[in-house]
Amino acid sequence: MIKKYRIGNPIETDSVVIQIDSENEKVPYFQMMEEKKELSLQMEKKDSVFGLGETVRGINKRGYIYTSNCSDDPNHTEDKRSLYAAQNFFVVWGQGRGFGMYVDAPGRVTFDIGYTDLDTFTISFDDFDADLYVVEGESIKEIVKEFRGIIGKSYVPPRWAFGFGQSRWSYMNEQEVREVVENYEEQNIPIDSVYLDIDYMERYKDFTISDERFPNFKDFVKEMADKGIHLVPIIDAGVKIEDGYDVYEEGVQGDYFCKKEDGTNLVAAVWPGKVHFPDFLNEDARRWFGEKYKVLLDLGIDGFWNDMNEPAIFYTEDHLKEVFQELKEYEGKNLDIRSFFHMQGLVGGLANNEEDYRRFYHDYKGKRYRHDKVHNLFGYNMTRAAGEAFERLSPDKRILMFSRSSYIGMHRYGGVWCGDNKSWWSHLLLNIQQMPALNMCGFLYSGADVGGFGADATEDLLMRWAEFGIFTPLLRNHSAEGTRRQEFYRFAKTDGFKNILRLRYALIPYLYSEFMKAAKNDEMIFTPLCFEYPEDDLAYEVEDQLCVGESIMIAPVYKQNATGRYVYLPEQMKLCRFRSYDDYDVEIMEKGHHYIKAAMNEVLVFIRKGHALPLATPADRTEKIDYTNLKYECFQCDQDAYQLYMDDGISR
Ligand code: NOJ
Repeated sequence: MIKKYRIGNPIETDSVVIQIDSENEKVPYFQMMEEKKELSLQMEKKDSVFGLGETVRGINKRGYIYTSNCSDDPNHTEDKRSLYAAQNFFVVWGQGRGFGMYVDAPGRVTFDIGYTDLDTFTISFDDFDADLYVVEGESIKEIVKEFRGIIGKSYVPPRWAFGFGQSRWSYMNEQEVREVVENYEEQNIPIDSVYLDIDYMERYKDFTISDERFPNFKDFVKEMADKGIHLVPIIDAGVKIEDGYDVYEEGVQGDYFCKKEDGTNLVAAVWPGKVHFPDFLNEDARRWFGEKYKVLLDLGIDGFWNDMNEPAIFYTEDHLKEVFQELKEYEGKNLDIRSFFHMQGLVGGLANNEEDYRRFYHDYKGKRYRHDKVHNLFGYNMTRAAGEAFERLSPDKRILMFSRSSYIGMHRYGGVWCGDNKSWWSHLLLNIQQMPALNMCGFLYSGADVGGFGADATEDLLMRWAEFGIFTPLLRNHSAEGTRRQEFYRFAKTDGFKNILRLRYALIPYLYSEFMKAAKNDEMIFTPLCFEYPEDDLAYEVEDQLCVGESIMIAPVYKQNATGRYVYLPEQMKLCRFRSYDDYDVEIMEKGHHYIKAAMNEVLVFIRKGHALPLATPADRTEKIDYTNLKYECFQCDQDAYQLYMDDGISR
């Protein structure tokens, strides 16, 4: 059961698609303190808090403070409070009871979950205007399903998007892309897509192609398509200001860009230098920008990733002027501790400056809103622009789309990747912990940069990360300019990588089937153990194992030099220790704690009682997998226990 409670005069977000009238009663569970713009809950000792989507820290969010404020921050360290997403749904659960709450407010909201006081959960608002949806249910899974039922169905990508994708910032030209594909083919490592980062464009201008780097783009897309490879270009939120550039000129003419207080277009800067931001919140601008994807669709492109859409800002023209002005005052001065730090802060504080988010406006649903009031809707509406356009431009064929920034509601139009993580072991664990929370909020098509984006990856980290990544719907190896190259074929243990990637392809029928069931039934793919075994107290403390779909539990190794790990089994299970899809040993494991060996090239998969896991013979491309000849690994059942979802993988 879901009830809605309204505080103040909230701004509509279109995240909830079912009309629910608000109650006239007091908000349950939380105490409201109007003057402080706060809601406060006394947590019981045994209460856990789950959800909040893509954030830092663990599965149980209790004990820290999170701010819902989409941020371009490449340092996902424990002290951070916000990443790129604003996904304000959580479940409080303890002693066999609890509730869920969705805080629908597009501005900044802070969730202090036992940070200030260990037992107090306080939600505070910049603006005390919000729709609160309180969800009751008999279990955490039921609460999640109820909630998902009001926000609309999750985005479904084409099936080829379950194949492996190789990315790099950037493959600089056709030849480099060809080499990547050739290397994968030579090593017999399956691959379905190669990502094009910003350098495919002409001077970072959206919807252009560099003539120099990709002189015959249409032919090249075709050449790759003939090999079964999809090219997936990036699209950025900022539109370069440049006379003669059609997107810029149309945007100015159509009045589609975000305005400053004085009515002129905001001038900010990102990769191409000065840009305007399309006002994605505005329906006309959204439609216009969405139509632009046609330029690339017409060249044969069928997948995209939307980036820098928090929006990330290097600087705004106005702020930069102010900083230069102030810097002049420091020239020739003897700078001491305060003045030096202040001067340094002036330059360091240019990017993603809070003040800049108050310098521009949106024309949203017939009203003008200052950006910070609706900040968390920006990336959502960029991806919505694309998603709505794809329905018009590609009515028969699904298009791959995922975004960096997000808000609940965007899950209907695209997936997300978890942004600029690092090649750190702790970020492999973070990736594991982020998946269930993303699923709770409707984001099913998701994953992180396997191997880590920033910093230099090591072979063992990449291997262990791949061993987890093969379970995430979006499986992409991506890394930043200047870091060590980390394509799988570059390492000595390529045989290990080949086998792990081929195991992914063996799992695709299962993963796709579980994905589609979750999308159709408003369910999760990745669940923490306590969601599946709520009666088991120990399951609540497991932060590094997940159930993936109905049949399996996984326990990834995420520590360097480990030759195994401790695993908790909430019931008897059948362990399959995979070295490759057809080379694995099997062992029945009893309920309880175990130390389980897992050599560098081994993946631990546990089949749950009464369940079956279908396995295909891998192919080098997703669409070449033979679905008619699956093998089933079963535990205390036969293969009929598993209902395989099947479709053509492409039509809507
Ligand atoms: C930031 C994105 O998060 C990253 O994935 C990308 O490579 C760079 N922008 C460059 O486009």
